[in-house]
Amino acid sequence: MKDMYILGIESSCDETSISIVKNGREEIATIISSQIDIHKDYGGVVPEIASRQHVKNITFVLEECLNKANMTMDDIDAIAITYGPGLIGSLLIGLEAAKTLSFIYNKPLIPVHHIAGHIYANSLVNELQFPLLAVVVSGGHTELIEMDEHYKFTKLGGTLDDAIGECYDKVARVIGLEYPGGPKIDKLAKIGKPTYKLPIPLHDDSYNFSFSGLKSAVINLVHNEKQRGNEIRKEDLATSFQKTAVESITSKTKKAIIDRKIKNVIIAGGVAANSGLREAMTKLTTELGVNLSIPSMKYCTDNGAMIAAAGYYAYKNGRIADLSLNSKSQDTLK
Ligand code: KG4
Ligand code: ZN
Repeated sequence: MKDMYILGIESSCDETSISIVKNGREEIATIISSQIDIHKDYGGVVPEIASRQHVKNITFVLEECLNKANMTMDDIDAIAITYGPGLIGSLLIGLEAAKTLSFIYNKPLIPVHHIAGHIYANSLVNELQFPLLAVVVSGGHTELIEMDEHYKFTKLGGTLDDAIGECYDKVARVIGLEYPGGPKIDKLAKIGKPTYKLPIPLHDDSYNFSFSGLKSAVINLVHNEKQRGNEIRKEDLATSFQKTAVESITSKTKKAIIDRKIKNVIIAGGVAANSGLREAMTKLTTELGVNLSIPSMKYCTDNGAMIAAAGYYAYKNGRIADLSLNSKSQDTLK
């Protein structure tokens, strides 16, 4: 069969990224233009600024990606685009770029759900084995998704309020760490001790999660300690928080593996970069004798390669859009 080169475009939040991926598995080139340095002054992503940055960056990112791959648009077979969910202004910039390329160069347009992208980041490392359980942990999502075959998603459960990454970022802000706080808490957690007691949220029989209670517990703890005149030991709080957040994910993952007789587990999303989670998931899957796939660090946070990889399997599944495709700030993965 002829090789298929897909151009993947991702602009759902604060990264403008374009990649070329061969046959859904092999990354040819990736360019990521991150806006973190701009947004960190505001303590989080400012949607209006993010959209304007995407407008500024996207043509350069495309040009650089093609140059890096030593390819032209004539070598590209299809264009995969994150249509949602995400920040609507940001999504629209990527979508318009994708539609324009699809129209001018007469290439199929493939709509990709952002979370499908995070899941398929794994196929850039290992071929996906089914049936599998995808543990999706990102800034906007915390979900357990079962897949029996390519591009067939069944949600077992998800967060009832905040996402785990969002919780990491908010807790980081409370203890004075810069956006994005997730990686900074992770770093501190390695040197602290779990001396602070925090409740494991939604410790029940469901496949759901809750992170707003954990966030509030940290805020209250910091507030109470301050009132008592005690200094917060940031590294100990980071360790205590990370232990609790990770335990919440692994306990529900364990339940799903056992109940659903899962043999393959993958982690997906920005928080898949977390060292505590990677370690705990490795331990859990080894104990239960199931396979674990974790994306390499560069594919954990948002990138065009995961969209191009997902786009390949979406295309094979017949998911091709016309130029009426619109962005969606919210959409269920299906
Ligand atoms: O998947 P992603 O790039 O964006 C969304 O689709 O939401 O994830 C970004 C999130 C942020 O909340 C960031 O703090 C978190 O992933 N993150 C981490 C780590 N690296 C990134 N959280 C905990 N530990 C990390 N090492
Ligand atoms: Zn993401």
